[in-house]
Amino acid sequence: MSDKATLEINGEKYEFPIVVGSENEVAIDIKALRGSTGGVITIDPGYKNTGSCESAITFLDGEKGILRYRGYSIEELAEKADFLEVAYLLIFGELPTQEELDQFHTDIKKHAVVDDDIKKILDAFPKSAHPMGVLASLTSALTAFNPTSVNVDSDEEMYNAIVRILGKFPILVAWTMRKKHGMPLDYGSTSLGYVENILHMMFKRPDEEYTQNPILVNALDKLLILHADHEQNCSTSTVRITGSSHAGLFVSLSAGISALWGPLHGGANQAVLEMLEAIKEDGGDTKKYMSKAKDKEDPFRLMGFGHRVYKNFDPRAKIIKVAADDVLSDLGVQDPILDIAKGLEKEALEDPYFVDRKLYPNVDFYSGIIYRGMGIPTEMFTVMFALGRLPGWISQWKEMRTRKEPIGRPRQLYTGETYRPFKDITNR
Ligand code: SDX
Repeated sequence: MSDKATLEINGEKYEFPIVVGSENEVAIDIKALRGSTGGVITIDPGYKNTGSCESAITFLDGEKGILRYRGYSIEELAEKADFLEVAYLLIFGELPTQEELDQFHTDIKKHAVVDDDIKKILDAFPKSAHPMGVLASLTSALTAFNPTSVNVDSDEEMYNAIVRILGKFPILVAWTMRKKHGMPLDYGSTSLGYVENILHMMFKRPDEEYTQNPILVNALDKLLILHADHEQNCSTSTVRITGSSHAGLFVSLSAGISALWGPLHGGANQAVLEMLEAIKEDGGDTKKYMSKAKDKEDPFRLMGFGHRVYKNFDPRAKIIKVAADDVLSDLGVQDPILDIAKGLEKEALEDPYFVDRKLYPNVDFYSGIIYRGMGIPTEMFTVMFALGRLPGWISQWKEMRTRKEPIGRPRQLYTGETYRPFKDITNR
């Protein structure tokens, strides 16, 4: 493999270094492109061919359907680790010892309260407000109550900001749901595990003790692990570029939540359930939705299908599909939606339109079926995605800031009007 790439423009040859990653991915380093060519840039809408950074956090191979966090496979982590362990791995780069994990959880618990004035902000939202909009606002508002910006050069300050948000975010998630359903906003218990406490805060009724259901705990733990990071996806890139201006961690996360909300991204898990419900209302007529998805005149897409990187099965979708069967049967839930989803998947995987475009189920296709079986409202599905993605966003923001990466500021190719003199209004 040559260590240089040569570009020829108007008879001039320019050489650029070739860089190879630890998984033998190859990139052309074009940092010197504009300067050495007198202004030539590249164009790549949606950055389908453009790497924004080097990163040591998550590796995925879309052709082979591989996903690894810090070198560990998603299959092993989903089966053998718990969510807080995976959060530690993503953020600090190594699996924690038991002592490190216990200390991490202890430090998080110290911050598992929020200023009561947050409730005033929550009260200002109508019950009809989408939980993602509420969560983005509350996360940004945390800055008002925790004004210290993060001095990333100080390991201690960086660590404190991390345990602070990991302590407070689940409260914002739980209160966002509870407010919508008219439930009192209270806290969980520091005697509980991280995921147990999330479920406790989300579901505890004021009039009865909350009994932990290990099926729900295990299901949520696995789902959060599967959503924890995914290299430079839309919302993570948003967190990174927001933080690159040296905006704080909380507001960078708030920007990521907003980006995740979109139905082409994390919002797809809610859109999948709405689509499956519509198919069920239509008497299970999957063929109608398949043809809508293939009709270029129809904006409808088969939600939960396709992926920018995976041109093979999304390994997370494979794990979640198996878990959906297990969780629903363990909970004794018969959900016809699961059968509709499986029928739709089978049809799509046999349809040339989807096969030719390498469109497979992604992480969002089955996750909502489990969330629904767990009693989580559809509008909260993307909030659960954000809860899982939080450690990934934190790890990526930390990597970008501690590596002192430059502010993100893409160029453009201008295609508008060339110079023209001002025209007085009387002459227009
Ligand atoms: C997530 O990036 C990440 O890692 C994201 C994520 C993460 O963990 O962070 O994995 C989470 O966002 C998963 C994706 C959830 N979104 C959906 O399920 C929405 C439905 N999917 C599509 O909108 C689409 O597949 C995207 C947005 C996911 C990817 O779009 P791309 O990469 O821009 O691909 P494209 O739009 O260029 O599509 C290529 C072709 C097009 O047809 P042609 O123009 O070639 O004829 O495939 C078609 C598209 O029309 N196509 C679909 C389709 N997805 C792509 N046609 C019907 N249904 C679909 N779902």
